[in-house]
Amino acid sequence: MAQHPDTAAIVLAAGDGKRLKSELPKVLHRVAGRSLVGHVLAALEPLGLGQVVVVASTRADEIAEAIAAEGLQLAPDFVIQEIPRGTGDAVRMALPALRDGTRRVVVLAGDTPLIRNETIGSMLARQAETSSAATMLTARVQNPAGYGRVVRATDGAIERVVEQRDATADEAAIDEINTGAFVFEVDALSTVLPKIGSDNAQQEYYLTDSMSLLLAEGHPVSSFETSADEAIGVNSRSQLAEVGERLRTAVTDRLMEQGVTIVDPATTFIDSTVEIEPDATIHPFSFLEGATTIGPGAEVGPQVRIIDSEVKARAVVTFAVVRGSSIGEEASVGPFASLRPGTVLDKGSRAGTFVETKKTTIGEGSKANHLAYLGDATIGKGVNVGAGTITCNWDGTEKHETVIDDDAYIGSDTMLVAPTHIGKRAATGAGSVVRGDVPDDALAVGVPARIIEGKGDKMAKGEDKPPGEPRG
Ligand code: UD1
Ligand code: CA
Repeated sequence: MAQHPDTAAIVLAAGDGKRLKSELPKVLHRVAGRSLVGHVLAALEPLGLGQVVVVASTRADEIAEAIAAEGLQLAPDFVIQEIPRGTGDAVRMALPALRDGTRRVVVLAGDTPLIRNETIGSMLARQAETSSAATMLTARVQNPAGYGRVVRATDGAIERVVEQRDATADEAAIDEINTGAFVFEVDALSTVLPKIGSDNAQQEYYLTDSMSLLLAEGHPVSSFETSADEAIGVNSRSQLAEVGERLRTAVTDRLMEQGVTIVDPATTFIDSTVEIEPDATIHPFSFLEGATTIGPGAEVGPQVRIIDSEVKARAVVTFAVVRGSSIGEEASVGPFASLRPGTVLDKGSRAGTFVETKKTTIGEGSKANHLAYLGDATIGKGVNVGAGTITCNWDGTEKHETVIDDDAYIGSDTMLVAPTHIGKRAATGAGSVVRGDVPDDALAVGVPARIIEGKGDKMAKGEDKPPGEPRG
């Protein structure tokens, strides 16, 4: 993608949430894993513009936080527009913030999250080819209600843009709308912005008036037409849901194109921030959110919610909630498991039915097949955690850690009262309450547990069963 050091972007994001009936600034409403304005900035990111200016209300810091949390690389400059006096006023306030040497500026509305990077590139190309003072992005839509209409002369030349509320019945019937995206030559824009008035139905300074003002001064203007899909601006909660659906479809289409199997895109909710490798399979009713990555050949779903987590190659996760966790290669999770932040499942390990984990590492090949709570625990390799095992990590005042060493065998219903260290090849008997450490190869039985030296290894190996077969 071409880089454009002498081109800046101004993103208008100072409007309130009035029509959404919201306390939250409109552009911070989230769809498909990003704020509305975050989607617009993500579309700008690959263009390599010289500068990005966001016009924000007094709550600019919330926008800055959202951008950082969404993993965007660009660092916009902020201009504060305290009172939303209209899009023309917003751009006028942003102009002095442009760096010296900026020749062109892309203006985008922060509430049009479907705008695509390729389209912005095409607008820049159209402006350059036609040497226009302004290039407006338009679309033909089935229902133009609420949008500014593009009024053209009989020869097709643009005359002006008329807002819905100022339109005559004839004008309101025009199906070509202004999407709110423009490319301007900075010099020409600077001359017309001060001339925009507020003598209209909304008593606002309309950026759209710049088109007729530029024409009146003899500057050529042009347009680039895009699809109706891309034009949707979010002015209501139902438009918020509509753009969410479209963004998700764009994500699932892209992933399928890249070789991911999505069994039913209509019931699969994947944020645009999620990355999935080829030959992974995503089953229905799966929610993949935030900074999540899914490795090749992994089987995810049905019915999972995975947030800010990695699922490595060929892992299997079904009917589970996973947050801030790492699931290793060929590991398996669920059904009905809850992995809380800080969980690390090493290669081939398992957190099975009704297992909850938190800040816990389960080592290679180790298994908690059913009904366990493992918190603040470090579990080595080849460990079997029996059903009903609980790490009693909270003493009412503080959290304590549990360490279970390689090849240990934790019997069903063991209470591991932390801090505790279960040694290598050690074992605990069913129903035992273990306080303090259990040495390597020892067996802890009874309530409270007695220590029997040397018995642990036998239980762990299980003489009558083939090695490696799961028990408990
Ligand atoms: C605007 C256009 C309309 C176009 C539509 C496309 C104008 C006058 N109208 O209408 O032609 O069809 O977008 O979606 O430009 N904003 C500010 N400061 C302000 C006012 C708005 O930053 O003082 C921001 C808003 O946060 C929003 C964007 O500008 O992100 C557009 O404003 P909005 O009020 O939604 O304009 P529309 O009525 O949708
Ligand atoms: Ca709008």
